Amino acid sequence: MSISSFKVVTIAGATGLLGFNIADAFLNEGSYKIKILRKKPESENKNASLLASKGAEVIYVDYNDKNDLVKALKGTDVIVSAIGGNDLMSTQCALLNAAKEVGVKRFIPSEFEKSGMEFTIIVTGFFYEYLESLGFDHKNKKATFYADGNTKIVCTSLPDIGKYTVESLKLPEARNGTIRVAGSVLTLNELLKKYEEITGTKWEVSSDLTVRQRYKNNTAPVPTIVDDLTAYISVNLDIKNLHNDKFSFTPRPITEGISLLVKS
Ligand SMILES: NC(=O)c1ccc[n+]([C@@H]2O[C@H](COP(=O)([O-])OP(=O)(O)OC[C@H]3O[C@@H](n4cnc5c(N)ncnc54)[C@H](OP(=O)(O)O)[C@@H]3O)[C@@H](O)[C@H]2O)c1
Repeated sequence: MSISSFKVVTIAGATGLLGFNIADAFLNEGSYKIKILRKKPESENKNASLLASKGAEVIYVDYNDKNDLVKALKGTDVIVSAIGGNDLMSTQCALLNAAKEVGVKRFIPSEFEKSGMEFTIIVTGFFYEYLESLGFDHKNKKATFYADGNTKIVCTSLPDIGKYTVESLKLPEARNGTIRVAGSVLTLNELLKKYEEITGTKWEVSSDLTVRQRYKNNTAPVPTIVDDLTAYISVNLDIKNLHNDKFSFTPRPITEGISLLVKS
């Protein structure tokens, strides 16, 4: 499918943290018609209103009603799913099935399943905005390392993830491929140093390697979703062969991300 044939992009979950940043980046770029899919019943939402004021069409759907989804997706070339919630996989599956039926050309999911559709996997690492869950407690100036201090952590800001998603539509490598991008690749020790510089004080550091060990040994139960996420990211995301240089912009530096967190 020719990349230039993409005209209509539908974003599901666009009122969420991730989805909003993606929808906003598409609207700022300005070359696509943007639809946002919201779950019924209709409700007020600040992010939806903001996106609508920038030109997005808001469509309400019942994700359990295939006909409703098919009707909503007619004319869509690309779907970006940024759906959250506990039913994420089943909701995204329903979206995927309807997308196949109406001939959507590409599906960019938030979680991955085999579908037979053209796809792009965008690997961005941790969100800058979620660094706290990696063990950096800026309020108490305490860090807990869930991996060795020399472990490299890949992370990217949400606005940049939005921009990478938009530009991926024009990259040949993104067709049925994995795009790896990073706003920052620093070790836990280096991240700590940035936090110390920005807060102007020495932090207390402790480590808890049990979560990671349980994950590696597959001796779950892992106690919380944050533990699971933390262990997964620490073990798996030492990214090689980044595609950063295929994109037109330089990502926001990690120091900006940390400064915003510290001020919040
Ligand atoms: N790499 C990372 O560090 C990281 C961190 C967190 C999340 N994530 C990924 O990003 C995705 C989005 O996260 P988020 O925090 O932005 O999500 P979120 O705010 O929880 O949800 C996003 C939107 O999904 C829609 N939604 C929620 N429950 C739904 C349901 N049951 N059925 C249909 N739609 C539903 C809602 O939009 P409407 O009400 O407008 O329909 C909601 O605003 C996650 O699924 C996860 O895969 C990655």
